[in-house]
Amino acid sequence: VALFSITILFAYLLGSIPTSVWYGIGYFGVDVRRLGSGNAGATNTFRVLGKRAGTIVMLIDVLKGWTATCLAPLLYYFNAIGDSEVLTYKIIFGIIAIVGHIFPVFVRFKGGKGVATLLGMVLAVHSELALVCITIFILTLIASQYVSLSSILATLAFPVLSLLGVFGQPDPLLVAFGFAMFLLVVFTHQKNIVRLLKGNESRVNIFRNSKR
Ligand code: G3P
Repeated sequence: VALFSITILFAYLLGSIPTSVWYGIGYFGVDVRRLGSGNAGATNTFRVLGKRAGTIVMLIDVLKGWTATCLAPLLYYFNAIGDSEVLTYKIIFGIIAIVGHIFPVFVRFKGGKGVATLLGMVLAVHSELALVCITIFILTLIASQYVSLSSILATLAFPVLSLLGVFGQPDPLLVAFGFAMFLLVVFTHQKNIVRLLKGNESRVNIFRNSKR
């Protein structure tokens, strides 16, 4: 029980690391929460501080999700959990890191929208499906220039493709988890959805942004 509590706490603290806030303030002296969409995430860092900063924040946020998820195989390696429990624990630790990213203890529980951290987790859980979701994200982004719409559609693709059995027999746990994550992403993107419907969501041109 102590080992699980420590692992869960670690996953939460890892997810809680407010990369965009710390990197923005530490490196540029800019708080990304005060500019652009005001979101403490990779997209807003990209928008406010440029391509390089946005990419660095995104990679670290992806890594947070991936690392937290990989705590499950680590526990298996140390015989703390059985083979059949690895996927369940991957999902538990990943979700905890995503919750940490959205509600981080280090910045008064106001974090990002969870997409990059979710991607890290999905990469660790099902890498082939993750690559398809990334492709859907990129194609939607090129076509629409809306990161929020791309995030929502790519997140929805995961449970839908799992359910369709695109990469083998659908796993009920993955499907349920995928739909739960989709609902979470819709929840964190409420303001974006309203802006998308009103037609005033900000666009990001991935080919033309070279600030700083
Ligand atoms: O991952 C967050 C993205 O989907 C939207 O970010 O800053 O445009 O609200 P933002």
